[in-house]
Amino acid sequence: MLETVFHTSVMDFPPLPTTTPGQAHGAGTGKVRLNLLVVDADPAVRSACVEIAAQLGYQVLSTAEMGQARQLLRGSATDLLLVNLPFQSTQGLELIAEIKLLYPDTAIIAMTSSTSVNQAVEAMRCGAGDYMTKPFTVDELSAVLDRAAERVNVDAEARKLRERLRLNQGLGAMVGRSAEMDKLYRILSKVAQSSHPVLVLGESGTGKELVARTIHAYGPNATKPFLPVDCGSLVPSLIESELFGYVKGAFTGALKSKDGLFVSAEGGTVFLDEIGELTLDLQAKLLRALQEKEVRPVGATHRVPIRARIVAATNRDLAAMVEKGSFRKDLFYRLNVVNLRLPPLRDRREDIPLLAAHFLDRMSKGQPKKYQLSDEALRTMMRHDWPGNIRELENSIERACAFSSGPVLRLGDLPTQLQQQGLDVLRAQTPAEAVASPVATQVKPLADLEKEAILTAIRNLNGDKLLAARLLGIGKTTLYRKLKEYGIQDPLQDD
Ligand SMILES: Nc1ncnc2c1ncn2[C@@H]1O[C@H](COP(=O)(O)OP(=O)(O)OP(=O)(O)O)[C@@H](O)[C@H]1O
Ligand SMILES: [Mg+2]
Repeated sequence: MLETVFHTSVMDFPPLPTTTPGQAHGAGTGKVRLNLLVVDADPAVRSACVEIAAQLGYQVLSTAEMGQARQLLRGSATDLLLVNLPFQSTQGLELIAEIKLLYPDTAIIAMTSSTSVNQAVEAMRCGAGDYMTKPFTVDELSAVLDRAAERVNVDAEARKLRERLRLNQGLGAMVGRSAEMDKLYRILSKVAQSSHPVLVLGESGTGKELVARTIHAYGPNATKPFLPVDCGSLVPSLIESELFGYVKGAFTGALKSKDGLFVSAEGGTVFLDEIGELTLDLQAKLLRALQEKEVRPVGATHRVPIRARIVAATNRDLAAMVEKGSFRKDLFYRLNVVNLRLPPLRDRREDIPLLAAHFLDRMSKGQPKKYQLSDEALRTMMRHDWPGNIRELENSIERACAFSSGPVLRLGDLPTQLQQQGLDVLRAQTPAEAVASPVATQVKPLADLEKEAILTAIRNLNGDKLLAARLLGIGKTTLYRKLKEYGIQDPLQDD
């Protein structure tokens, strides 16, 4: 078949099918084919490029002239442009600059002769994404086309996501149109396409897990598993066998070997939640796994290769933990390749009505009438600081729907703390009354109120911490951490 090296002489090529300039070619691979336009005055190079690109599955057009190239570009969408830069002429560079301006989505590859290195630099400066020096091999042409095609596909995906965002109220299951969220979606739509580790940071309930799921859902391996691990609630030995797997007899009860999540993800995503809770020993093992891209199952002597993408999340200040020596610096840098910081809800209050409407819609499914918020209830929600962020908002709405006697949720249906705030604001509207009110004289530090709320919830629920956390609108890890901070070992006994 074709020689591996192209020269600019017709004689160097075996006979190829004749190529009429502007005629479409294609290898008929069946998948959606990218359009490629080859522009080169040399018939031999042109027809060889056409032949090979068509065999690679591109839909190819070719022409010898810049003028006709312009016409072809106007006439049909062109994904890739392979353009020769004639020696001692700026025509090719002019075309590149023009295309970059008129059709910014077209990926441009410049072909230069080996004697003109400056031309390649100039071509890149004008907007070419890549270049190829003549003579080139089949492999080189194929690699350069592949790279350009990948860029085109990634950009097209990101564009589709951005477009969907423009039309929707959020990204996927994520709701919110504040400037902070728009910025997050833009980064997310890019990040999803890559396979770098991502570190998701944010206060409790800001949507870290939802973001991790969204990255997975919009990534190239969305059909592969998404496997979450809660590093905060599992004991270290369990986390190790969960992540790395174990062999038969590794410990009592290990009756047969089991793959770890890194292996069973099969190229999907492993979500390491509450990564800040990982012990130093496990941090070292995780680092080794990420560096070497293989793991050693518990009790095994062999290593197993892994391909999973890692998304980690925490509400702790990992950088501060690194300073203190409780989190490994090298692991921090490895996980922190891309970091997404989720804004707390109080910093994007304009999203509260949208989020509330979203949760109300969900609660209204199967109901004869749609739930809605009274003006006073919504005003109170807009003023609240939401320490438990979106989870607290979601729980408040679920509770209000459960307590309300009709489809309109009133101030009285909201959690007590919110009701109190709503009432305080109402009272503050008549200052004299507000000062005289017993509420104003009973002000307590927030930390005391929080401790009281947590203890009361756990006691009223006979010690059910999970349910208490849910009703309080905080994660269970946060609840455990707070109990620790208050020095409470037994919430049913301690003060
Ligand atoms: N932008 C959003 N739009 C709609 N729902 C959201 C959004 N962000 C979070 N939620 C919902 O809020 C709840 C809490 O989100 P998630 O569990 O992802 O938060 P988190 O940051 O992981 O919390 P924690 O730190 O407590 O583990 C979930 O039910 C999630 O579906
Ligand atoms: Mg979480």
